[in-house]
Amino acid sequence: MRVTTVRRTAAGFGLALLVCAALAAWLAPTPRRGPPAVAPSPPTTLSGAELWARHCAGCHEVEDLAPQLRGEHGAARALEWLSFLEAHAEGDAGEDRAVLAFLAGQTD
Ligand code: HEC
Repeated sequence: MRVTTVRRTAAGFGLALLVCAALAAWLAPTPRRGPPAVAPSPPTTLSGAELWARHCAGCHEVEDLAPQLRGEHGAARALEWLSFLEAHAEGDAGEDRAVLAFLAGQTD
């Protein structure tokens, strides 16, 4: 009878340990639910500056285009260029926007 009790207790502890292990395994990944440390970078996450370097810098100088986006007609020109760029250069609309934002942010 005593042996059985010991066995049962041992089995009980074993089960408790198993539950704890399972719980730990279940809980452990939770803090890592945020964005992964090294995020994959699809082309759309390139900055305007990188897109400019990649798609435009071969033919254009920042100094030639950036000033045209300044002043009171700057916003209108940016819109104009946005549709112009659809056919003019590589990159989708989002990338064109990023390039224009980059140009508009250049002070020289
Ligand atoms: C293969 C060379 C080439 C590439 C690459 C290129 N362009 Fe051009 N771009 C030109 C040429 C040539 C013109 C025509 C110049 C003109 O008509 O004044 C032009 C005209 C433009 C104009 C009109 C300028 C104006 O004063 O009206 C804009 C804006 C422009 N490009 C922006 C870009 C941007 C932004 C990129 C990159 C996404 C780009 N281009 C990529 C050659 C290129």
